[in-house]
Amino acid sequence: MTYEQAKALLTEKNQLQLLTYYDELDDAGKKNLLDGIANIDWSFEDALANPVDMSGADRDLQPIDGYRRADIDARLPEFEAAGVEAIKAGKVAAVLLAGGMGTRLGVDGPKGAYDIGITKPLYIFEQQMKNLMEVTEKCGVTVPLYIMTSDKNHEQTTSFWKEHNYFGYPESEVKFFKQDMAPAVDFDGKIILERKDTPALSPNGNGGWFSSLKRAGLCEDLHKRGVEWLNIYAVDNVLQRIADPVFVGATIVSGVNCGAKAICKTEPYEKVGVLCKDGTQPDIIEYYELTDEMANMRDEKGNLVYCYGVIMNYLFRLSRLEEIVDKKIPVHIVQKKIECLCEDGETRKPEKENGKKFETLAVDLIKPMGSVLPFEVVREKEFAPIKNKTGVDSVESARELLKGNGVVL
Ligand code: UTP
Repeated sequence: MTYEQAKALLTEKNQLQLLTYYDELDDAGKKNLLDGIANIDWSFEDALANPVDMSGADRDLQPIDGYRRADIDARLPEFEAAGVEAIKAGKVAAVLLAGGMGTRLGVDGPKGAYDIGITKPLYIFEQQMKNLMEVTEKCGVTVPLYIMTSDKNHEQTTSFWKEHNYFGYPESEVKFFKQDMAPAVDFDGKIILERKDTPALSPNGNGGWFSSLKRAGLCEDLHKRGVEWLNIYAVDNVLQRIADPVFVGATIVSGVNCGAKAICKTEPYEKVGVLCKDGTQPDIIEYYELTDEMANMRDEKGNLVYCYGVIMNYLFRLSRLEEIVDKKIPVHIVQKKIECLCEDGETRKPEKENGKKFETLAVDLIKPMGSVLPFEVVREKEFAPIKNKTGVDSVESARELLKGNGVVL
Protein backbone atom coordinates (compact mmCIF):
# COMPACT_ATOMS: atom_id res chain seq x y z
CA MET A 1 0.00 0.00 0.00
CA THR A 2 1.35 3.45 -0.90
CA TYR A 3 1.02 6.53 1.29
CA GLU A 4 -1.58 7.95 -1.14
CA GLN A 5 -3.66 4.77 -0.98
CA ALA A 6 -3.47 4.75 2.84
CA LYS A 7 -4.51 8.38 3.00
CA ALA A 8 -7.47 7.81 0.69
CA LEU A 9 -8.61 4.77 2.68
CA LEU A 10 -8.24 6.46 6.06
CA THR A 11 -10.00 9.60 4.85
CA GLU A 12 -12.93 7.46 3.79
CA LYS A 13 -12.87 5.60 7.13
CA ASN A 14 -12.37 8.76 9.18
CA GLN A 15 -9.20 7.32 10.74
CA LEU A 16 -6.54 9.77 9.51
CA GLN A 17 -5.00 9.97 13.00
CA LEU A 18 -3.04 6.84 12.08
CA LEU A 19 -0.87 8.96 9.75
CA THR A 20 -0.10 11.66 12.33
CA TYR A 21 3.59 10.72 12.66
CA TYR A 22 4.20 9.42 9.12
CA ASP A 23 6.58 12.23 8.15
CA GLU A 24 8.76 11.63 11.24
CA LEU A 25 9.33 7.94 10.45
CA ASP A 26 12.33 6.40 8.70
CA ASP A 27 11.79 4.16 5.67
CA ALA A 28 11.35 0.99 7.74
CA GLY A 29 8.84 2.75 10.03
CA LYS A 30 6.89 4.10 7.05
CA LYS A 31 6.69 0.63 5.56
CA ASN A 32 5.63 -0.85 8.89
CA LEU A 33 2.83 1.66 9.27
CA LEU A 34 1.55 1.25 5.70
CA ASP A 35 1.63 -2.57 6.06
CA GLY A 36 -0.23 -2.26 9.36
CA ILE A 37 -2.91 -0.10 7.76
CA ALA A 38 -3.24 -2.46 4.79
CA ASN A 39 -3.85 -5.38 7.16
CA ILE A 40 -6.54 -3.78 9.31
CA ASP A 41 -9.65 -5.92 9.61
CA TRP A 42 -12.43 -3.37 9.23
CA SER A 43 -15.22 -5.66 10.44
CA PHE A 44 -15.05 -3.84 13.79
CA GLU A 45 -16.96 -0.96 12.12
CA ASP A 46 -19.99 -3.19 11.77
CA ALA A 47 -19.62 -4.41 15.38
CA LEU A 48 -19.58 -0.79 16.59
CA ALA A 49 -22.50 0.25 14.42
CA ASN A 50 -24.63 -2.79 15.29
CA PRO A 51 -23.64 -4.00 18.76
CA VAL A 52 -25.08 -7.40 19.68
CA ASP A 53 -27.92 -7.46 22.17
CA MET A 54 -26.45 -9.23 25.22
CA SER A 55 -29.56 -8.89 27.35
CA GLY A 56 -31.00 -12.21 26.22
CA ALA A 57 -34.41 -10.52 26.07
CA ASP A 58 -35.30 -12.01 22.70
CA ARG A 59 -34.33 -15.56 23.64
CA ASP A 60 -36.63 -18.42 24.63
CA LEU A 61 -34.41 -19.79 27.38
CA GLN A 62 -34.98 -23.21 28.89
CA PRO A 63 -32.93 -25.70 30.89
CA ILE A 64 -30.98 -28.35 29.01
CA ASP A 65 -30.58 -32.04 29.79
CA GLY A 66 -27.11 -33.37 30.34
CA TYR A 67 -25.14 -36.06 32.12
CA ARG A 68 -24.59 -35.65 35.84
CA ARG A 69 -21.85 -37.75 37.47
CA ALA A 70 -24.31 -40.49 38.44
CA ASP A 71 -25.43 -40.84 34.79
CA ILE A 72 -21.80 -41.02 33.67
CA ASP A 73 -20.74 -43.48 36.35
CA ALA A 74 -23.64 -45.78 35.47
CA ARG A 75 -22.37 -46.07 31.88
CA LEU A 76 -18.66 -45.56 32.48
CA PRO A 77 -17.32 -48.77 30.84
CA GLU A 78 -19.43 -48.19 27.72
CA PHE A 79 -18.35 -44.53 27.35
CA GLU A 80 -14.73 -45.26 28.09
CA ALA A 81 -14.56 -48.10 25.55
CA ALA A 82 -16.11 -45.89 22.85
CA GLY A 83 -13.68 -43.07 23.63
CA VAL A 84 -10.60 -45.28 23.68
CA GLU A 85 -11.66 -46.83 20.37
CA ALA A 86 -12.02 -43.38 18.74
CA ILE A 87 -8.68 -42.17 20.13
CA LYS A 88 -6.90 -45.35 19.01
CA ALA A 89 -8.42 -44.94 15.54
CA GLY A 90 -6.89 -41.44 15.35
CA LYS A 91 -10.27 -39.71 15.28
CA VAL A 92 -9.51 -37.22 18.06
CA ALA A 93 -7.20 -34.19 17.96
CA ALA A 94 -6.61 -31.54 20.60
CA VAL A 95 -6.58 -27.78 20.10
CA LEU A 96 -4.99 -25.59 22.73
CA LEU A 97 -6.26 -22.01 22.77
CA ALA A 98 -3.19 -20.04 23.79
CA GLY A 99 -3.60 -16.78 21.91
CA GLY A 100 -4.81 -14.74 24.89
CA MET A 101 -2.89 -11.95 26.56
CA GLY A 102 -3.22 -13.11 30.18
CA THR A 103 -3.55 -9.50 31.32
CA ARG A 104 -5.10 -10.39 34.67
CA LEU A 105 -2.18 -12.68 35.51
CA GLY A 106 0.04 -9.81 34.49
CA VAL A 107 2.89 -11.70 32.88
CA ASP A 108 4.89 -10.82 29.82
CA GLY A 109 4.84 -13.56 27.24
CA PRO A 110 2.70 -16.67 26.92
CA LYS A 111 0.56 -17.63 29.91
CA GLY A 112 1.43 -21.30 29.39
CA ALA A 113 5.10 -20.50 30.04
CA TYR A 114 4.22 -19.39 33.59
CA ASP A 115 6.09 -21.43 36.21
CA ILE A 116 3.71 -22.70 38.89
CA GLY A 117 6.31 -24.91 40.56
CA ILE A 118 7.52 -24.38 44.12
CA THR A 119 10.54 -26.64 44.62
CA LYS A 120 11.21 -27.13 40.92
CA PRO A 121 9.96 -25.51 37.71
CA LEU A 122 6.56 -26.68 36.50
CA TYR A 123 5.19 -24.72 33.57
CA ILE A 124 1.47 -24.56 32.80
CA PHE A 125 2.09 -26.05 29.33
CA GLU A 126 4.12 -28.84 30.93
CA GLN A 127 1.43 -29.78 33.45
CA GLN A 128 -1.22 -29.87 30.72
CA MET A 129 1.00 -32.11 28.58
CA LYS A 130 1.46 -34.47 31.55
CA ASN A 131 -2.33 -34.71 31.73
CA LEU A 132 -2.60 -35.43 27.99
CA MET A 133 0.19 -38.00 28.08
CA GLU A 134 -1.65 -40.01 30.73
CA VAL A 135 -4.25 -40.63 28.03
CA THR A 136 -1.88 -41.21 25.12
CA GLU A 137 0.15 -43.69 27.16
CA LYS A 138 -2.99 -45.54 28.18
CA CYS A 139 -4.29 -45.68 24.60
CA GLY A 140 -0.89 -46.41 23.06
CA VAL A 141 -1.24 -43.67 20.41
CA THR A 142 -0.51 -39.97 20.19
CA VAL A 143 -3.21 -37.35 19.79
CA PRO A 144 -2.30 -34.59 17.30
CA LEU A 145 -2.06 -31.25 19.04
CA TYR A 146 -2.72 -27.87 17.39
CA ILE A 147 -1.76 -24.78 19.34
CA MET A 148 -3.31 -21.39 18.64
CA THR A 149 -1.07 -18.40 19.29
CA SER A 150 -1.31 -14.76 18.28
CA ASP A 151 1.07 -12.22 16.75
CA LYS A 152 1.76 -11.09 20.31
CA ASN A 153 3.14 -14.41 21.57
CA HIS A 154 3.82 -16.70 18.59
CA GLU A 155 7.62 -16.51 18.54
CA GLN A 156 7.90 -16.83 22.31
CA THR A 157 5.48 -19.76 22.40
CA THR A 158 7.10 -21.76 19.61
CA SER A 159 10.60 -21.24 20.97
CA PHE A 160 9.46 -22.18 24.50
CA TRP A 161 8.08 -25.49 23.25
CA LYS A 162 11.25 -26.17 21.26
CA GLU A 163 13.49 -25.25 24.17
CA HIS A 164 11.56 -27.66 26.41
CA ASN A 165 11.67 -30.43 23.84
CA TYR A 166 7.89 -30.38 23.39
CA PHE A 167 7.54 -31.58 26.99
CA GLY A 168 8.32 -35.11 25.86
CA TYR A 169 5.67 -35.20 23.13
CA PRO A 170 6.70 -36.02 19.53
CA GLU A 171 7.44 -32.76 17.68
CA SER A 172 5.69 -34.09 14.56
CA GLU A 173 2.42 -34.19 16.52
CA VAL A 174 2.51 -30.51 17.51
CA LYS A 175 1.53 -27.75 15.08
CA PHE A 176 1.12 -24.04 15.75
CA PHE A 177 -1.19 -21.57 14.04
CA LYS A 178 -1.87 -17.89 14.59
CA GLN A 179 -5.25 -16.35 15.32
CA ASP A 180 -6.35 -13.08 13.76
CA MET A 181 -5.90 -9.66 15.28
CA ALA A 182 -8.45 -6.85 15.58
CA PRO A 183 -7.77 -3.14 16.02
CA ALA A 184 -8.39 -1.49 19.36
CA VAL A 185 -10.24 1.83 19.33
CA ASP A 186 -10.71 4.72 21.75
CA PHE A 187 -14.14 5.67 23.08
CA ASP A 188 -14.78 7.70 19.90
CA GLY A 189 -14.14 4.70 17.68
CA LYS A 190 -10.71 5.93 16.51
CA ILE A 191 -8.05 3.26 16.09
CA ILE A 192 -5.40 3.75 18.76
CA LEU A 193 -1.73 4.10 17.85
CA GLU A 194 0.47 1.79 19.90
CA ARG A 195 3.64 3.33 18.44
CA LYS A 196 4.19 6.01 15.85
CA ASP A 197 4.42 3.31 13.19
CA THR A 198 2.01 0.71 14.67
CA PRO A 199 -1.78 0.69 15.02
CA ALA A 200 -2.87 -1.03 18.25
CA LEU A 201 -3.97 -4.55 17.45
CA SER A 202 -4.94 -7.32 19.84
CA PRO A 203 -6.01 -10.95 19.52
CA ASN A 204 -9.62 -11.05 18.32
CA GLY A 205 -10.92 -13.44 21.00
CA ASN A 206 -10.99 -17.22 21.02
CA GLY A 207 -14.13 -17.58 18.87
CA GLY A 208 -12.23 -17.56 15.58
CA TRP A 209 -10.06 -20.55 16.45
CA PHE A 210 -11.52 -22.83 13.78
CA SER A 211 -11.47 -20.30 10.94
CA SER A 212 -7.85 -19.46 11.83
CA LEU A 213 -6.95 -23.15 11.92
CA LYS A 214 -8.58 -23.60 8.54
CA ARG A 215 -6.87 -20.55 7.08
CA ALA A 216 -3.55 -21.97 8.22
CA GLY A 217 -4.23 -24.99 5.97
CA LEU A 218 -4.54 -27.38 8.91
CA CYS A 219 -7.90 -28.85 7.89
CA GLU A 220 -6.07 -30.83 5.21
CA ASP A 221 -3.79 -32.19 7.91
CA LEU A 222 -6.82 -33.18 10.01
CA HIS A 223 -8.44 -34.98 7.08
CA LYS A 224 -5.22 -36.72 6.10
CA ARG A 225 -4.98 -38.07 9.63
CA GLY A 226 -8.64 -39.16 9.73
CA VAL A 227 -9.56 -36.79 12.58
CA GLU A 228 -13.30 -36.43 13.23
CA TRP A 229 -13.37 -34.66 16.61
CA LEU A 230 -11.53 -31.64 18.00
CA ASN A 231 -11.09 -31.21 21.75
CA ILE A 232 -10.48 -27.53 22.40
CA TYR A 233 -9.24 -26.36 25.76
CA ALA A 234 -7.99 -23.26 27.52
CA VAL A 235 -4.40 -22.78 28.56
CA ASP A 236 -5.29 -21.57 32.02
CA ASN A 237 -6.73 -24.70 33.64
CA VAL A 238 -3.89 -26.84 34.97
CA LEU A 239 -6.20 -29.75 35.83
CA GLN A 240 -7.50 -29.82 32.27
CA ARG A 241 -8.22 -33.40 31.14
CA ILE A 242 -7.49 -33.49 27.43
CA ALA A 243 -8.88 -36.16 25.10
CA ASP A 244 -10.57 -37.71 28.13
CA PRO A 245 -11.81 -41.08 26.81
CA VAL A 246 -15.00 -41.09 28.92
CA PHE A 247 -15.97 -37.61 27.70
CA VAL A 248 -15.10 -38.47 24.10
CA GLY A 249 -17.09 -41.70 24.29
CA ALA A 250 -20.14 -40.10 25.94
CA THR A 251 -20.24 -37.38 23.27
CA ILE A 252 -19.91 -39.84 20.38
CA VAL A 253 -22.45 -42.31 21.80
CA SER A 254 -24.95 -39.49 22.37
CA GLY A 255 -24.92 -38.59 18.67
CA VAL A 256 -24.50 -34.84 19.32
CA ASN A 257 -22.24 -32.42 17.44
CA CYS A 258 -20.56 -31.12 20.54
CA GLY A 259 -19.71 -32.16 24.09
CA ALA A 260 -19.12 -29.57 26.80
CA LYS A 261 -17.38 -30.33 30.07
CA ALA A 262 -19.14 -28.58 32.91
CA ILE A 263 -18.95 -28.10 36.64
CA CYS A 264 -22.27 -28.23 38.40
CA LYS A 265 -23.05 -25.01 40.20
CA THR A 266 -23.11 -25.30 43.95
CA GLU A 267 -24.90 -22.04 44.54
CA PRO A 268 -27.41 -20.13 42.39
CA TYR A 269 -25.29 -17.04 41.73
CA GLU A 270 -21.92 -18.66 40.95
CA LYS A 271 -20.15 -16.62 38.29
CA VAL A 272 -20.02 -19.09 35.41
CA GLY A 273 -21.79 -19.17 32.05
CA VAL A 274 -24.34 -22.01 32.04
CA LEU A 275 -25.52 -24.25 29.25
CA CYS A 276 -29.18 -23.93 28.35
CA LYS A 277 -31.48 -24.00 25.33
CA ASP A 278 -32.80 -21.13 23.27
CA GLY A 279 -35.93 -22.76 21.84
CA THR A 280 -34.56 -25.95 20.31
CA GLN A 281 -30.97 -24.71 19.96
CA PRO A 282 -28.27 -25.16 22.58
CA ASP A 283 -26.99 -21.93 24.06
CA ILE A 284 -25.06 -20.44 26.95
CA ILE A 285 -26.39 -17.87 29.35
CA GLU A 286 -23.96 -15.70 31.27
CA TYR A 287 -24.40 -15.55 35.06
CA TYR A 288 -25.41 -11.87 34.95
CA GLU A 289 -28.18 -12.65 32.47
CA LEU A 290 -29.92 -15.23 34.70
CA THR A 291 -33.07 -13.96 36.36
CA ASP A 292 -33.49 -14.72 40.09
CA GLU A 293 -36.16 -17.22 39.19
CA MET A 294 -33.89 -19.06 36.77
CA ALA A 295 -30.89 -18.93 39.08
CA ASN A 296 -32.88 -20.50 41.95
CA MET A 297 -34.99 -22.99 39.98
CA ARG A 298 -34.59 -26.55 41.33
CA ASP A 299 -35.72 -29.98 40.15
CA GLU A 300 -37.62 -32.55 42.23
CA LYS A 301 -34.33 -33.79 43.72
CA GLY A 302 -33.46 -30.27 44.87
CA ASN A 303 -30.69 -29.76 42.27
CA LEU A 304 -30.30 -26.41 40.52
CA VAL A 305 -31.87 -26.66 37.08
CA TYR A 306 -29.54 -24.18 35.33
CA CYS A 307 -26.51 -25.96 36.69
CA TYR A 308 -24.01 -26.77 33.95
CA GLY A 309 -21.21 -24.17 34.20
CA VAL A 310 -18.83 -24.36 31.26
CA ILE A 311 -15.07 -24.65 31.78
CA MET A 312 -13.76 -24.15 28.23
CA ASN A 313 -13.24 -27.79 27.36
CA TYR A 314 -15.34 -28.81 24.37
CA LEU A 315 -15.37 -31.64 21.87
CA PHE A 316 -16.48 -30.46 18.43
CA ARG A 317 -17.47 -32.61 15.46
CA LEU A 318 -15.18 -31.56 12.62
CA SER A 319 -17.72 -32.04 9.80
CA ARG A 320 -20.18 -29.69 11.54
CA LEU A 321 -17.48 -27.08 12.18
CA GLU A 322 -16.71 -27.11 8.47
CA GLU A 323 -20.39 -26.52 7.66
CA ILE A 324 -20.69 -23.53 9.97
CA VAL A 325 -17.26 -21.96 9.58
CA ASP A 326 -18.58 -19.00 7.56
CA LYS A 327 -21.53 -18.34 9.88
CA LYS A 328 -21.22 -15.07 11.74
CA ILE A 329 -20.96 -15.24 15.51
CA PRO A 330 -21.42 -12.17 17.75
CA VAL A 331 -18.55 -9.75 18.20
CA HIS A 332 -18.29 -8.68 21.84
CA ILE A 333 -17.02 -5.18 22.60
CA VAL A 334 -15.00 -5.01 25.80
CA GLN A 335 -13.50 -2.00 27.53
CA LYS A 336 -9.83 -2.58 28.32
CA LYS A 337 -6.58 -0.87 29.19
CA ILE A 338 -4.89 -0.62 25.84
CA GLU A 339 -1.19 0.01 25.45
CA CYS A 340 -0.86 3.27 23.59
CA LEU A 341 1.48 6.00 22.48
CA CYS A 342 1.55 8.67 25.19
CA GLU A 343 2.15 12.40 24.77
CA ASP A 344 5.82 11.97 25.75
CA GLY A 345 6.30 9.58 22.81
CA GLU A 346 6.54 6.48 25.05
CA THR A 347 4.26 3.45 24.80
CA ARG A 348 2.50 2.55 28.05
CA LYS A 349 -0.51 0.74 29.42
CA PRO A 350 -2.82 3.29 31.10
CA GLU A 351 -4.10 2.95 34.65
CA LYS A 352 -7.72 3.11 33.54
CA GLU A 353 -9.64 1.63 30.61
CA ASN A 354 -8.93 3.83 27.61
CA GLY A 355 -10.69 2.04 24.79
CA LYS A 356 -12.44 -0.97 23.37
CA LYS A 357 -11.38 -4.32 21.97
CA PHE A 358 -13.38 -6.61 19.71
CA GLU A 359 -13.60 -10.29 20.55
CA THR A 360 -15.52 -13.32 19.40
CA LEU A 361 -15.94 -16.13 21.92
CA ALA A 362 -15.64 -19.89 21.50
CA VAL A 363 -18.83 -20.37 23.57
CA ASP A 364 -20.78 -18.67 20.79
CA LEU A 365 -20.03 -21.63 18.53
CA ILE A 366 -22.24 -23.87 20.67
CA LYS A 367 -25.46 -22.55 19.14
CA PRO A 368 -24.53 -23.08 15.49
CA MET A 369 -23.24 -26.56 16.35
CA GLY A 370 -26.95 -27.44 16.78
CA SER A 371 -26.64 -29.94 19.63
CA VAL A 372 -24.57 -30.21 22.79
CA LEU A 373 -24.06 -32.71 25.58
CA PRO A 374 -23.42 -31.11 28.97
CA PHE A 375 -21.02 -33.48 30.77
CA GLU A 376 -20.41 -32.99 34.48
CA VAL A 377 -16.86 -33.25 35.77
CA VAL A 378 -15.69 -33.42 39.37
CA ARG A 379 -14.72 -29.83 40.04
CA GLU A 380 -11.80 -30.60 42.40
CA LYS A 381 -10.32 -33.01 39.88
CA GLU A 382 -10.65 -31.03 36.66
CA PHE A 383 -10.98 -27.34 37.33
CA ALA A 384 -8.03 -25.27 38.52
CA PRO A 385 -8.13 -22.05 36.50
CA ILE A 386 -5.32 -19.51 36.71
CA LYS A 387 -6.69 -16.11 35.83
CA ASN A 388 -5.18 -13.95 38.58
CA LYS A 389 -1.94 -13.82 40.52
CA THR A 390 -3.61 -14.10 43.94
CA GLY A 391 -7.08 -14.76 45.35
CA VAL A 392 -9.86 -16.37 43.36
CA ASP A 393 -8.79 -18.49 40.36
CA SER A 394 -5.17 -17.75 40.98
CA VAL A 395 -1.76 -19.36 41.02
CA GLU A 396 -2.28 -19.98 44.75
CA SER A 397 -5.67 -21.66 44.42
CA ALA A 398 -4.48 -23.76 41.46
CA ARG A 399 -1.45 -24.95 43.43
CA GLU A 400 -3.69 -26.14 46.26
CA LEU A 401 -5.87 -28.02 43.80
CA LEU A 402 -2.85 -29.59 42.11
CA LYS A 403 -1.52 -30.74 45.48
CA GLY A 404 -4.95 -32.21 46.24
CA ASN A 405 -4.55 -34.28 43.09
CA GLY A 406 -1.16 -35.60 44.11
CA VAL A 407 0.97 -33.31 41.91
CA VAL A 408 4.31 -32.59 43.55
CA LEU A 409 5.17 -28.93 43.29
P1 UTP B 1 -9.34 -15.49 28.77
O1 UTP B 1 -10.70 -15.10 28.41
O2 UTP B 1 -9.06 -15.83 30.18
O3 UTP B 1 -8.34 -14.37 28.25
O4 UTP B 1 -8.95 -16.70 27.84
P2 UTP B 1 -6.78 -14.15 28.44
O5 UTP B 1 -6.38 -13.25 27.34
O6 UTP B 1 -6.01 -15.43 28.55
O7 UTP B 1 -6.66 -13.44 29.86
P3 UTP B 1 -7.04 -11.93 30.29
O8 UTP B 1 -8.51 -11.80 30.09
O9 UTP B 1 -6.24 -11.04 29.39
O10 UTP B 1 -6.60 -11.88 31.72
C1 UTP B 1 -9.50 -18.00 27.94
C2 UTP B 1 -8.71 -18.87 26.97
O11 UTP B 1 -8.87 -18.42 25.63
C3 UTP B 1 -7.60 -18.12 25.06
C4 UTP B 1 -6.67 -17.87 26.24
O12 UTP B 1 -5.32 -18.09 25.86
C5 UTP B 1 -7.20 -18.88 27.24
O13 UTP B 1 -6.72 -20.18 26.94
N1 UTP B 1 -7.72 -16.93 24.20
C6 UTP B 1 -8.29 -15.80 24.67
C7 UTP B 1 -7.23 -17.01 22.93
O14 UTP B 1 -6.69 -18.06 22.50
N2 UTP B 1 -7.35 -15.89 22.14
C8 UTP B 1 -7.90 -14.75 22.56
O15 UTP B 1 -7.97 -13.78 21.78
C9 UTP B 1 -8.41 -14.70 23.87
